[in-house]
Amino acid sequence: MAAYAHIVGWGKYIPEKVVTNHDISKFMDTSDEWIKTRTGISERRFANEDETTATMAIAAAQLALDRARIKPSAIDLIIVASLSPEQPFPATASLVQDAIGANRAGAFDLSAACAGFIYALSMGSAMIQSGAAKIVLVIGSETVSRFLNKEDRGTYPLFGDGAGALVLQAHNTPGGVLSTVLGSDGSGAEHLSIPAGGSKLPASQYTIDNRLHCMQMNGREVYRFATRIMGKVAKQACEKAGVDLDDIDLFIPHQANIRIIQSASKYLGIGDDKVFTNLHKYGNTSTASIPIALCEAVEAGRVQAHDKLVMVGFGGGLSWGATVVQWGMPVPYKPRQWWYRGLRWFVYRWAKIRSSYLRLKRRMESILPTKNGNGYLTPDEERSGDKYKENGHSPHISRNGHTPEQVDVPAEIPETYSETEEPVIEVEKPSNGK
Ligand code: ACO
Repeated sequence: MAAYAHIVGWGKYIPEKVVTNHDISKFMDTSDEWIKTRTGISERRFANEDETTATMAIAAAQLALDRARIKPSAIDLIIVASLSPEQPFPATASLVQDAIGANRAGAFDLSAACAGFIYALSMGSAMIQSGAAKIVLVIGSETVSRFLNKEDRGTYPLFGDGAGALVLQAHNTPGGVLSTVLGSDGSGAEHLSIPAGGSKLPASQYTIDNRLHCMQMNGREVYRFATRIMGKVAKQACEKAGVDLDDIDLFIPHQANIRIIQSASKYLGIGDDKVFTNLHKYGNTSTASIPIALCEAVEAGRVQAHDKLVMVGFGGGLSWGATVVQWGMPVPYKPRQWWYRGLRWFVYRWAKIRSSYLRLKRRMESILPTKNGNGYLTPDEERSGDKYKENGHSPHISRNGHTPEQVDVPAEIPETYSETEEPVIEVEKPSNGK
């Protein structure tokens, strides 16, 4: 039976700290008027010191699960799209998995800059449609403010922080994610990037002095690319879904620049009443912009059951993506009762306890007696090389931490095996004896 990926939960997290255009014009050669007329942005939110991409992702995810009435242990997969992850690795998604207690879920991060959320939604829905997953948590979370150069007026006023999450669930009722279209043109990679911090330009005094860990953008080039691609890819997604543009109820574009959004809606022939924007409040929150906008559209009563929505993202890569979604959930959503909130509190406290237990268990395992007889060494023994220093030589430790002895000679050869013996494959006989 065909599985459809329905959006059954949605949540957002917006940091409290507001930074207005006036605030920025106090230390930068810009003005409220310039920023507003060229971008449509009036203010944005910046994360406080204790807020990070993971903490915001967790908060948004908890709300989305709450709305979906789905317990974390039912999640099969968590995808976090971000250009400002918690750290290069491990994946922010793994931190989310641990914090919410999604003990059955796989987790990975996805990098496609501001188009990342559409990519993540596409991956999540494909997992459901293929039958590989039943419940997928898709998150866009950003702390872009930590990657902005306070001296660059071409980028600093444009971005903000926040997170948005959606829960996708398999259902056999037609609807949900109807189509996705993804694209990339790496020949434009240099127009929008964070140049340092990867294998090409690892952190050094030079990269720090030259602020190469901050976002760099050729605004005009990105603008030209965005105005060309946004309408086009939205149209392709509608064609793929077999949905007429006139039947679109709401257009939710990536919130980068109001002029880019207007140009795309003009190309698509969609009136302002069918376009959702909130970039005046938040600026460009990169991968979080579309899920935050969707949450706010739902909260504002702009999304009703069976509505057809088009969401479009674009950004560094250069990359882009669009999706057509048929909303399945009845709205407005009823707030949860006190007992549900109590249960929720307990579930997340339990996740914390579970996480602490796993850490303690790992710690205990690392100090428990060694299994030398089987060829395993504790990290301390590996470092000191005591076992191998008996004959005066230091051990050769290979890149994966094993000595040649460990790699080449199995500690024990199982008795049932000999070099000439073929492995025996047992075929189970049918029970009726035929
Ligand atoms: N304040 C005042 N003046 C400014 C500012 C500013 N903040 N920024 C640039 N200017 C100046 C420029 O220096 C330039 O001056 P000049 O003519 O003397 O050289 C003048 O304003 C005009 O500059 P433009 O770049 O032509 O301005 P434009 O109208 O194109 O607007 C902007 C610039 C807002 C950056 C626009 O190009 C844009 O929105 N580009 C797309 C950005 C975008 O969507 N990014 C998506 C990122 S998604 C992701 O993956 C992260």
